[in-house]
Amino acid sequence: MIEIRQVQKTYPPVNGASEPVVALESVDVTIQPGEFVTVVGPSGCGKTTLLNMVAGFEHPTQGSILLDGQEVRQPGPERAVVFQQPSLLPWLTIEDNVAFGITIGHGKSQLDRGRLEGLMQTMGLSEFSRHYPYQLSGGMQQRCAIARAVITDPAILLMDEPFGALDAQTRSDMQRFLLALWTDLHHTVLFITHDVEEAILLADRVLVMTPRPGHIAKELKINLARPRYWDMVMAPEFTEYKRKILAVLRPESSARPASG
Ligand SMILES: Nc1ncnc2c1ncn2[C@@H]1O[C@H](COP(=O)(O)OP(=O)(O)O)[C@@H](O)[C@H]1O
Ligand SMILES: [Mg+2]
Repeated sequence: MIEIRQVQKTYPPVNGASEPVVALESVDVTIQPGEFVTVVGPSGCGKTTLLNMVAGFEHPTQGSILLDGQEVRQPGPERAVVFQQPSLLPWLTIEDNVAFGITIGHGKSQLDRGRLEGLMQTMGLSEFSRHYPYQLSGGMQQRCAIARAVITDPAILLMDEPFGALDAQTRSDMQRFLLALWTDLHHTVLFITHDVEEAILLADRVLVMTPRPGHIAKELKINLARPRYWDMVMAPEFTEYKRKILAVLRPESSARPASG
């Protein structure tokens, strides 16, 4: 369980500015084990700051973050992080990149071949195991990065706009692969995005963030059936979720005068 308790984060002034930046204020969320939570909001609203604090890369200025009751002080093996850029090791094959999380600490002897192959299969990488990263598309590279992140079986997967650099079709494929993986592993996921449809399609719960200062303006439980399919974005319930989120992110568009 992840407990984010009354967290505030202030950065010191940058580039000669006189005021410190209040990146986050009064963030209070509890995430249950196995829950898939997405955070959606515009650029600069503090999404990365929030994720980095859960990861242990940054610390709250006020408040606390607890993992199963223990305060987060630094990164740990139970939390894997996936960034927008896949950052694979170019001199290793795809399979060796995926295995890296295990082989770096323990050597090849600790590698569970069955698990590695299962993971390669789930992420659609089996045919490319002997390829090198430069031979793969951006989407495949990111699938490799995700497989590498989960091979050590972390309880928590933290993802910061992992599909943000990909085109729409690839993105949709990636969402499918990620949901298949989550169905198998059922780890806790904190997934950041600025795409409202992505936030709804993946999540059990969406946290909507707004800036100045960054805070969670709305929480929305998503009751769409699983498994989820991309065409659910056209369902009336989906549109209703989207409308509720956009009303928070773009209040002016909900208030516009009727045209025509
Ligand atoms: N290391 C830092 N030093 C100073 N200000 C920062 C730092 N990191 C982020 N910020 C500021 O904090 C706010 C939130 O940033 P960030 O968490 O990256 O937002 P997001 O990921 O939603 O785009 C922004 O105003 C940003 O400029
Ligand atoms: Mg960010």
